Amino acid sequence: MKIHRNYNLKHLNTLSVDCCCDQYVEINSLADLEALPTDIKITEMLVLGSGSNLLLTQDINRFVVHIKPRRHITIVDNLVVAWAGTEWNDLVNWTVDRNLGGIENLAGIPGLVGAAPFQNIGAYGTEIKDVLVWVEVYNWHTGLYHRLSNEECMFTYRHSVFKYHDQPWIISRIGLDLRPNSPLNLSYGNLQEKFSNDFKPSYRQVADEVLKIRNSKLPDPNRLPNAGSFFKNPIINAQIVKRIQRRFKDIPIFDTNKANEFKTSAAWLLEQCGFKGHREGDAGFYDKHALILVNHGDATGADLLRMSKMAKRAVKNKFSIELEEEVRIL
Ligand code: EPU
Repeated sequence: MKIHRNYNLKHLNTLSVDCCCDQYVEINSLADLEALPTDIKITEMLVLGSGSNLLLTQDINRFVVHIKPRRHITIVDNLVVAWAGTEWNDLVNWTVDRNLGGIENLAGIPGLVGAAPFQNIGAYGTEIKDVLVWVEVYNWHTGLYHRLSNEECMFTYRHSVFKYHDQPWIISRIGLDLRPNSPLNLSYGNLQEKFSNDFKPSYRQVADEVLKIRNSKLPDPNRLPNAGSFFKNPIINAQIVKRIQRRFKDIPIFDTNKANEFKTSAAWLLEQCGFKGHREGDAGFYDKHALILVNHGDATGADLLRMSKMAKRAVKNKFSIELEEEVRIL
């Protein structure tokens, strides 16, 4: 296992922030995982996939374990089992091409399979928790593998047990229950419009439509560096909804299926505060979607952090709502 010192991570984070880490290794297989030093503390380790949900604000004094993209997908006991280094979208393509349904709405999400349970990725009314059966983790302190059930992952909106970073775990594989007769979820506005009631699209057709919607709204990180939604959509109660609606009748409110809990749109809140397309130097928010923090060129991590804090403060001042970052900040 070759350990690189003072390694530059600019090409390994989709916000394209220029910064270095202390030590860096590449992981291509389970054997590579098993060769990791066992004495690295949890706080000294950073497991990196495609870096699509990360804002690096400075050089990091960490041992970076980079899971290299490599596709490995099999079917075991009727479950689709994928290696953590598989590109998420390759997995979606592999499954819809075999007419296995359940993750077609998650087409086009950047990142690797290992990162998907980490933040319970979701889009167009579906979350990975809806089909995930288990997550296998490698414990680099003990050298043992361990399987967590769906329940043990403690999934909620863009959150899971893995976000606590208090266990020496690296996600190695996941098992998904995807079937030829899985129900379609076309409840999201644009999908509903596209597929009328009497037409039942294939999983491939749904995935293709989702890709079209995504491409029309979200910037390609290879062209305009970004990390997807920068903040979560805030969950608010009925009282707050009422208070805001008195002054802002158009505020989008979505049901969460939980009593007295509603979701509003962080993008809308940011747009109302003037951040859609706002730019200072090379840090800014995307002009077609206010929830996407973008790097127009040479923004530093500190520039991007400053811009995100400014936006957060403005939303707090105008709406008394505290936005919470979806992206991990280091
Ligand atoms: N809107 C605005 N201004 C904008 C963009 C959107 O006011 O600039 C409002 C519109 O009213 C729109 C509503 O926001 O109806 C929702 O927008 P959109 O459908 O684009 O979804 P989102 O809530 O902004 C969430 C996820 C995305 C996911 C989409 C589609 C979060 C934080 N983000 O975004 O996930 O792709 O729904 O399901 O939950 C990600 O997590 O990185 C991500 C891209």
